[in-house]
Amino acid sequence: IKVNFRLPDGEMKTVSACEENTLMQAAVSNGIDGIIGDCGGNLSCATCHAYIEAEFRQRLPAPSEMEIAMLDCALHVTDDSRLTCQVMLSPQLDGLIVTVPPLD
Ligand code: FES
Repeated sequence: IKVNFRLPDGEMKTVSACEENTLMQAAVSNGIDGIIGDCGGNLSCATCHAYIEAEFRQRLPAPSEMEIAMLDCALHVTDDSRLTCQVMLSPQLDGLIVTVPPLD
């Protein structure tokens, strides 16, 4: 599937990603700055935080309590925020638009 990352400088980067990977894995393997995934997807770092466009967010399972708790540790959290290690890629997410949070 195609995933579009909107980078902090406004540039759009489109990558091909495999279903059955998480969005964090797709970001890290394509060198997207600002999505780090320090804990390897164990819900213990929040360095995989990013914003998911509402249209696509509605197609995802709701965040778990653990994810909501860990999001508290991220900066610049909004209603669009998700931890990308908890977002499993699927055909319904083809064309997904992900905004990388400000780097600071
Ligand atoms: Fe650590 Fe997502 S990779 S919480």
